Parts: sequence; structure tokens; C-alpha cells
Amino acid sequence: MKGKIAVGPGDGIGPEIIEEGVKVLKAVAKKFGHEFELTYVDIGGVAIDKYGTSLPDETLQICRQSDAILFGAAGGPKWDYPGAKEYANAAVLWIRKEFGLFANLRPVKVYPSMVNCSPVKPEIVKDVDLIVLRENTGGVYFGEPKKQWRTPEGRMAVDSMLYSEKEVERIVRVGFELAQSRRKKLCSVDKANVLQSSRLWHEIAYELAPEYPDVQLEHAYADACTMWLLKRPRDFDVLVMSNLFGDIISDEASVLAGSLGMLPSAQIAGSGVKGTTFGFFESSHGSAPKHAGKNVANPIATILSVAMMLKYSFGLEEEARCIDEAIEKTVQTHRTYDIMEEGKTKVGTRQMGDLIAEAIS
Ligand code: IPM
Ligand code: MG
Repeated sequence: MKGKIAVGPGDGIGPEIIEEGVKVLKAVAKKFGHEFELTYVDIGGVAIDKYGTSLPDETLQICRQSDAILFGAAGGPKWDYPGAKEYANAAVLWIRKEFGLFANLRPVKVYPSMVNCSPVKPEIVKDVDLIVLRENTGGVYFGEPKKQWRTPEGRMAVDSMLYSEKEVERIVRVGFELAQSRRKKLCSVDKANVLQSSRLWHEIAYELAPEYPDVQLEHAYADACTMWLLKRPRDFDVLVMSNLFGDIISDEASVLAGSLGMLPSAQIAGSGVKGTTFGFFESSHGSAPKHAGKNVANPIATILSVAMMLKYSFGLEEEARCIDEAIEKTVQTHRTYDIMEEGKTKVGTRQMGDLIAEAIS
């Protein structure tokens, strides 16, 4: 198999975690005899410095000619402050919108050797295997009006949590399809007791349910959902929710697996169940500027994102599984600082990447 990948290291710890992601990708390519052509692109603050915008045309061109984008992280105090003309992470939002990547899949799986890593009790996080499915191109992230203005009484600001029927339907269908390919449980998360956009969401989820009789649909209010995730996370299979709720609840859910450093993401235009598709793959965490350049960041979220890329954009399921197994084996003995436990060997970013790549070879 031959593939073209646009690789954006980005800012902060981005370049370090991407280096390990690429290391593992190369190990897989070698083992299974694939050829990936990697083209490095500037996305984020690094692009603002060079081109004056976080997503330059040069980058977009290359992304358009690629099968997938693999990305590190964007942002840092140099670019992101109230009043800045463009935040470094604007690029991430534009890529989602530009390529219509409306489904953001954030899987949380607890490796057996890591049940003691979470601040949540081991008997609760044991065997957790869920996906937070986040609507990725609509809602309050993109709805208009969206602005700040001045009035005689002081400053005002508005963001609009706007959803069309079509937008909700396509993401909820992805939820049903994903659930069908897994344990057949879908939880639709909203705030329908208060928000109009959520009432629409709730209605549509229940209208679609009869088309997927094999899937058990349940409903949770977003606030209650954050609590259920800590009390009975094993009960969840696929959780589908709006952009903002997905942003918040996916960070919470990552803690079940030990650390936000374990949470990958696949941003695609569908469920990925019915064939390969273009996608944007990045860890769900930020650029962690204070850890940058210190060889301490956990590269596993990025390495898991590489696995998701192989699965969703190239249809290489066995290769994806191979990465997952290599991680599972490696964390039995070696840990980065964020998932460190007594009796394990503490390693840095590069060593973690080396060990996972070795386990693959
Ligand atoms: C995420 C991040 C982004 C988001 C930021 C960096 C724009 O928090 O991918 O979860 O809010 O979507
Ligand atoms: Mg987030």
C-alpha cells in the first residue's frame, strides 16, 4: 500500500510527540511493507510566525493532495492571548470545517496494566472501552452571531449554539453505525432540559432510533453524564454529543484511561465503518508549552492517533491493532511522568517512542 500523509508538528510539545508518531509509523510501514510519503507542513503558531496565518495556503494545498493529516498540537502564550488577531489553534478549527470532518472519534480504552493510573478506583475503570463521538464542525464553535462588542453599559459577547436538523442527523447516524460495529449501545448526550438546540438533538436521536433496532439508545443530560462517567463508565459504549459537550466530556473521559496523554482522535467525514476516508488525526490534548523541549511529554495519544489514521484513512486494521498491542505491552513496564506508577521505569518522550517502535518490529 502507498499513501500520502501531510504531517504538521505544530507548536509546544507538538514536534516531539510527532517525531515519535512518525517513528512508530515507519516501524509499521517497514514491518508490513507499506510506503508512506510524508510531507511536513506548517500549522498553528509556527505558521503564524512564518506566513502570518495559522493555516497558510501552501499547507492547505498539500493537505488537499494527501490521504490524511497527522498533527501534533497548536498554541502557546506567544500567539494566544485575549485580543490576539488570530489564535494559533484557529488552524485546527479551519481544517475541521474546510474538509467537512464533522465526526470526531475519541476512544477511551483502559489497558489492564493501567487500572491503577486513574484517580478513579480501579474496580470502576477496569475494562472501560468507550468512544466519545463529538460533533466537530457545528454548534457553538461555529454558529453565528459570534462576536464581542461595546455598549454604553459595558462590553458584551455572544456565541451561538446553532444546529440544523441535517447536522444533527448525520452525526447521530454515525453514532448508531459505530454502536452497531461495537457493543450496540448509544448514549445521546444533551441539555434538552434547558437548550433549544439540545431539544432538537434529542428529538432527532429518538426519531432515528427505529432505523437501528439492534442498537439500544439511551439519553443523558450533559451534567449528569459527567457524573455517570465517573460512577459507571463501563456501561457506556458510544456517546454522541455536540461540539462543546464533546470537547469537555472527552477530556474528562480521558482520565479514566490514566491521562489526557492517552487520548487520540480521528476527525473524519463519517463513521469510518463503511470504508476508508480522508481524516485529520491528532491527540486530543494541547501543546503544553511548559513541557515543550524537555523530552517529558507522553507521545501515546499521538501514536494511538497514528493507529486510527491507519485504520480509518488506509483501511489497515491489523496494523492499527499491532500499534495498540505494542503500547499495551510497553506500558506494562515503562511510563512517562503523567502515567508513572511505583515499580515501573520512568521514561521520556523519545524512549517511549523507541520502546513502542521496538515492540512493533
Ligand atoms: C480539542 C481542543 C481544541 C478544541 C482546541 C485546541 C481548539 O481542545 O481538540 O479538544 O476545542 O476543539
Ligand atoms: Mg479539548
